[in-house]
Amino acid sequence: EKNGFDTFMLKEIHDQPRAYQDTMRGRINEGKEIVLPGMTLSAEQIRGLKQIHMVACGTAYHAALVGKTVIERLTRIPVEVDLASEYRYRMPVIRENTLVIAVSQSGETADTLAAMREARQCGARVMAITNVIGSSVAREADDVLFTLAGPEIAVASTKAYSSQLIAFYLLGLFMAQSMETLDQASLIELIAMLERLPSQVEEMLEGLEPVRQIAEQISNQNHLFFIGRGLDYSLAMEASLKLKEISYIHSEAYAAGELKHGSLALIEEGTPVIALATQELLLEKTASNIKEVKARGAYVIALALEGQTELEKTADQVIYVPRTYSLLAPALAVVPLQLLAYYTASIRGNDVDKPRNLAKSVTVE
Ligand code: M6R
Repeated sequence: EKNGFDTFMLKEIHDQPRAYQDTMRGRINEGKEIVLPGMTLSAEQIRGLKQIHMVACGTAYHAALVGKTVIERLTRIPVEVDLASEYRYRMPVIRENTLVIAVSQSGETADTLAAMREARQCGARVMAITNVIGSSVAREADDVLFTLAGPEIAVASTKAYSSQLIAFYLLGLFMAQSMETLDQASLIELIAMLERLPSQVEEMLEGLEPVRQIAEQISNQNHLFFIGRGLDYSLAMEASLKLKEISYIHSEAYAAGELKHGSLALIEEGTPVIALATQELLLEKTASNIKEVKARGAYVIALALEGQTELEKTADQVIYVPRTYSLLAPALAVVPLQLLAYYTASIRGNDVDKPRNLAKSVTVE
């Protein structure tokens, strides 16, 4: 069932082009319209939404952070994202016309389920984004948008996260259609780029050697940083969690602009800093943060879109991902970061599929 791969995690990383296709299948009409069969949330209800809250744990929380940016950019509806374990105890302000979106691969995470129940009790409408048909989260939600990533066995989530991003793109565009916040030409262009993602991931999976080499370099380190701005910061959090959970190397995700407010003190000669710089509008800002850490001796590995060669002047190494729209970049850029975690963990001899102390599904609080 590992399809010839050594581990489930590696298989699931390679599953992503197919998972993207399956998650999009039947939901895009002739390249110009998003259709979500079975969605009961009407266009009128979407237009009436005052706010959206998202609740999730771990990797699903990181996907929701990307989802927030996607939905806010496409619809201008304000979105808040909470860790489910915080949301349920913080007495959230749920006004009329609040939609709560619970994101969970398994659909059985205790805190996510409890946060969702809490929201319902306060009168919110609840939507679930989950990978498991018939799961508790799916059964209890008013609407479900399934990711169709297929079973995920490795404890470290890979294809479920990236398929959640696809679900958010579909949902954001679907809402934008109802709200008329996006002109037809931009909608068509975004859909076209969305449909290119599977083959772009495929392309990336063919050129993995540079990532393996970087894994060799970081595998004997004790700690490192992932930095980024905007969507790259959300992605940095996911990259950092992935590395920690399977390689057991301590790492921290930092908003690049926050470094000088404290963490810069931790940078010394040779500290690895992985700088995510896929967001074109923020490129210059991130580049100046790279200079900041370089000046303190950091070894900088940058991740950028193809063609953004200016980073080669400042970073020690640059990994490129295929060109796409900024909003879609995390769905590509996550792939080398998953592989970086994977290779680093396997070089260190860890059980990649079953990291110590962790369970696949956290059904207790
Ligand atoms: O099944 P869920 O998406 O609700 O699980 C949430 C987290 O437990 C999960 O994403 C966890 O953080 C993964 N081990 C991350 O790789």
